[in-house]
Amino acid sequence: MGSFRVELGADAHPVHVGAGLLERVGELARAAGLRPGGAALVTDANVARLYAARAHRALAAAGFDAITIEVAAGEASKSLATLEQVYDRLVAAALDRSSAVFALGGGVVGDLAGFAAATYLRGLAVVQIPTTMTAQVDSALGGKTGVNHRTAKNLIGAFHQPRLIVADVATLASLPEREFREGLAEVIKYGAIMDAPMVAALEAAMPAILSREPAALERIVDQSLRHKAAVVARDEREGGLRKILNFGHTIGHALEASSGYGSYFHGEAIAIGMVAAAGLSRAYAGLSADEANRLTRLIEAAGLPTRMPAGWRGADFERALKLDKKRTGEGLEFVLIDRLGHALTRKLGFDEIVAQVA
Ligand SMILES: NC(=O)c1ccc[n+]([C@@H]2O[C@H](COP(=O)([O-])OP(=O)(O)OC[C@H]3O[C@@H](n4cnc5c(N)ncnc54)[C@H](O)[C@@H]3O)[C@@H](O)[C@H]2O)c1
Ligand SMILES: [Zn+2]
Repeated sequence: MGSFRVELGADAHPVHVGAGLLERVGELARAAGLRPGGAALVTDANVARLYAARAHRALAAAGFDAITIEVAAGEASKSLATLEQVYDRLVAAALDRSSAVFALGGGVVGDLAGFAAATYLRGLAVVQIPTTMTAQVDSALGGKTGVNHRTAKNLIGAFHQPRLIVADVATLASLPEREFREGLAEVIKYGAIMDAPMVAALEAAMPAILSREPAALERIVDQSLRHKAAVVARDEREGGLRKILNFGHTIGHALEASSGYGSYFHGEAIAIGMVAAAGLSRAYAGLSADEANRLTRLIEAAGLPTRMPAGWRGADFERALKLDKKRTGEGLEFVLIDRLGHALTRKLGFDEIVAQVA
C-alpha cells in the first residue's frame, strides 16, 4: 500500500492506494479523524451491485452507521434533480454536521456526493473512494465538486477537499475495457508534463497495466495521485501551476464538444489532444521529433486514439475552440511540453492550433 498526504494547510488529508483497501475503509476513516455515527454511502447502481455491501460492512465494523444512497449510473446523475434526491435522503436520515459522506464510485459519484457534502448544512466531511481509473488518478483528488447544468458541464460547483482518499486498485478489475483505457490518458499526461522517468516506466509496463496486474496498477495510481497532489498543493484554486494539468485538454474539450458529447470518452479525446499538443510543442516549444513520437506510441500502446476521426468537421471544431474559457482575443493560453516531463504555457492563435489538428 502507498500512503501520503496532500499538503493543503487546514485541508491537508491522507491518501491510500492499494489492492483490497475497500475492506479497510472504516478503519482508515477513523484513523483520519472522522467521527463514527451517522453517515451516508453514495454510490451508483453498477458500483452498488459490486462493492456497496463490502464498503458498508467495513464502515459498520468501524462504527459508521451509513445509509446507502444509490443513484443511476451515468453522467445524467450529475444533475440538480439527482442532487435534490440526495439532499432528501440526508434530511430524512437526520444527518448532522458531524456526519460523513462516503463517495463510492467513479467521477460522477465523486463530483455529485462531494458537492452534496460541500453544501448540505454548509459542509460535511467527504471521503472519496474512487472505483474508476479516471477517478483514481484524477477526479478524487483536488477538491473540485459539482453538477452539470442543462446548458453546460460542471457549471454549478464548489471546492470541497476530501478528508481522506482510499483508492482500492482491486476495484479496477471489473471496469469495462474502454473505461479502463480512457483513464490511462490522464496517467500518460502526468508523465508527459512532470515526470520523464514515469514515461519510460509506462513504456515498459504497459502490458502489465493492460492486463491489470495489481502491482502495476498500484504504481501508476500512486504516482499519478502524488503528481496531482503536488500541483494542487501549490495551486489549490487553479491560479497558475494547476493549468499544466490541462495538457491535451484544450483540443480534447473542443473535440468532445464538436463531435457531440458521447461519441468520444473524455480520455479518448484527451489522447488525441495530447498528440496534437505534442505537434504544437514541436513547432513552438522545441520538443524533439523523437520525444513527440514516443508520446504518440505510448498513447497507441494504451489502446487510445491518436488522430482526429475521418470526416471531422473543422468549422465545428474551431467554433468549439473559440468558446474555451481560456480564450484571450484571437487565441488562448496553451499547455506545451518542451521535453518529456516538462510543461510550459504559451499563447497560441486559433489559426495555429487548427492548422496543427487538420
Ligand atoms: N472533479 C474533478 O476534478 C474531475 C476530474 C475529471 C473528471 N471529472 C468528472 O468525472 C466524471 C467522469 O468520471 P468517470 O469516468 O469515472 O465516469 P463514471 O463515474 O460515470 O463511471 C463510468 C462507468 O463505470 C461504472 N463503474 C464505476 N466503477 C466501476 C467498477 N469498479 N467496476 C465496474 N464499473 C464501474 C459506472 O457505474 C459508470 O457506468 C465526469 O462527470 C467528469 O466531469 C471530475
Ligand atoms: Zn481530463
